[in-house]
Amino acid sequence: MAVAVKEDPLLRKEIERRRTFGIISHPDAGKTTLTEKLLLFGGAIQKAGAVKSSKIDRATTSDWMEIEKQRGISVATSVMGFDYRGVKINLLDTPGHQDFAEDTYRTLTAVDSVVLVIDCVKGVEIQTEKLMEVCRMRKTPVISFINKLDREGQDPYDLLDEVEAKLDIKVHPMSWPIGMGKGFKGVYSLYEKKLLLFTPSKQTVQQEYVEISDISSPELEKHLTENEANQLREDVELIDGVYGDLDFEDYRSGKVAPVFFGSAVNNFGVKELLDCFIDIAPFPRNRETDDREISPLENTFSGFIFKIHANMDPRHRNRLAFVRVCSGKFERGSTYHHVRLGKKFRFSNATAFMAQDKETIDVAYPGDIVGLYDTGNLKIGDTLSEQNEGLYKGIPSFSPEIFREVINLDAMKSKQLDKGLTQLMDEGVAQMFTYDMGSRKVVGTVGVLQFEVIQYRLKNEYGATCRFESSNLYKACWFDSKDDKKLKEFIDSKQRHIAKDKDGKPVFMAESKAWLQMVQDNFPEINFHFTSEF
Ligand code: G4P
Repeated sequence: MAVAVKEDPLLRKEIERRRTFGIISHPDAGKTTLTEKLLLFGGAIQKAGAVKSSKIDRATTSDWMEIEKQRGISVATSVMGFDYRGVKINLLDTPGHQDFAEDTYRTLTAVDSVVLVIDCVKGVEIQTEKLMEVCRMRKTPVISFINKLDREGQDPYDLLDEVEAKLDIKVHPMSWPIGMGKGFKGVYSLYEKKLLLFTPSKQTVQQEYVEISDISSPELEKHLTENEANQLREDVELIDGVYGDLDFEDYRSGKVAPVFFGSAVNNFGVKELLDCFIDIAPFPRNRETDDREISPLENTFSGFIFKIHANMDPRHRNRLAFVRVCSGKFERGSTYHHVRLGKKFRFSNATAFMAQDKETIDVAYPGDIVGLYDTGNLKIGDTLSEQNEGLYKGIPSFSPEIFREVINLDAMKSKQLDKGLTQLMDEGVAQMFTYDMGSRKVVGTVGVLQFEVIQYRLKNEYGATCRFESSNLYKACWFDSKDDKKLKEFIDSKQRHIAKDKDGKPVFMAESKAWLQMVQDNFPEINFHFTSEF
């Protein structure tokens, strides 16, 4: 339990007006377009197209230099802060390229809720399923936006069923579409009881709507054909019967996902999403450290680092660490404990992220993201705190998909290679596992791009050269057991296959699915996990 605190009313006010969230989707579902429209509503950008220009083009770019360059550009847009209706919104961008999925998983640890975009034509796609798994692990509240209603998509009932089945979460429609594709007329907002009429428009912020609190009113026929009006009445009756009223706590505890329908590119249904989002989405809540739960209302600052962005200019080795403020008030120039290192640091160079811009800030509140310039003391998962307390939990590593062994090509530069690898791993570029026997190093990634990134950066920033040798590993499994004797027995018998992860935790490196199954059968007392947090 969080400790009782003497409340600072100003701090409470600042906390309650913050919404920190991320938008996730399978590539091409419309994340960038929706982000842009939200920024337009927030007055954070003035014209459409501003976000798009810094977006990574996953489909056509296999050139990682280009991707890195664009990632560099997108640092400023990776956290977008803006005010809307008196609420401070912090929108955390997540990389679209699936090779950077780990980045996205980590960013999800820094948000309080998520908006999930689904393409109504394609339905739930694979990347969405993976991202939802991460949300479920952390019980992150999710609002879903079913996009591209101006296209001939799947039947809305089928879409809802698919979301429930594939994403393993109950849904609750907040709006309901009238037609689709060419016959798309608009949506009825069940939340605001109004009819939104669709007019394709890429730029405007205003859209036409009619307040219709009673769906049986003949007012409906003034805007829809008799058939459409009757169909809508039937649908609304059915939905009300099946879903009833949304219990906001069910949403905030991650049990139910409210669903909106719209068309991001036409700016249709986006304002309704945003208005409802700021009404119901959670403000920063308690977070767990390995010591105790910490309330955002506690007067002393604490926060954790979820992302590190390297400076791509080799002459300036400094990096930008992204800190999520979790409690109290962050003040520039103050001295904070670096809990892992047990040292104090003064942070005089703090940056806030406003949409598309970085600006120096003096104070930040829970939910805010602060950028700190760092010369190598900070790594992902580190906790900074005014009082020297526990480490924030919740930045799990997942078993990589691809593994390759690092072969040093210049024996004279092995120190540089080690340093470079360690720093790149601190940034979260990939994961490294060091075998207990023989000190072999294996790098694991989600996609192949990272190997090129690592080789290039080792050479350019650290003067080290290496080669990657294919490895037939299947999964990295973290493990534990209640039975210490059996655990020791297991470690002794599988020593050749045990490596340490970045935190020194032992990991069993399984060579194939079948073999892992066999080992599991032989050691039933050992629990194997595909994530470092269990
Ligand atoms: P992403 O960030 O999730 O990858 O998706 P993004 O917003 O880039 O959208 C992918 C494509 O889908 C874009 O088209 C975008 O214009 C389109 N799109 C987004 N929302 C809607 C919508 O409501 N209806 C329709 N019909 N299309 C939508 P593109 O051709 O890849 O790019 P562009 O040339 O339009 O910029």
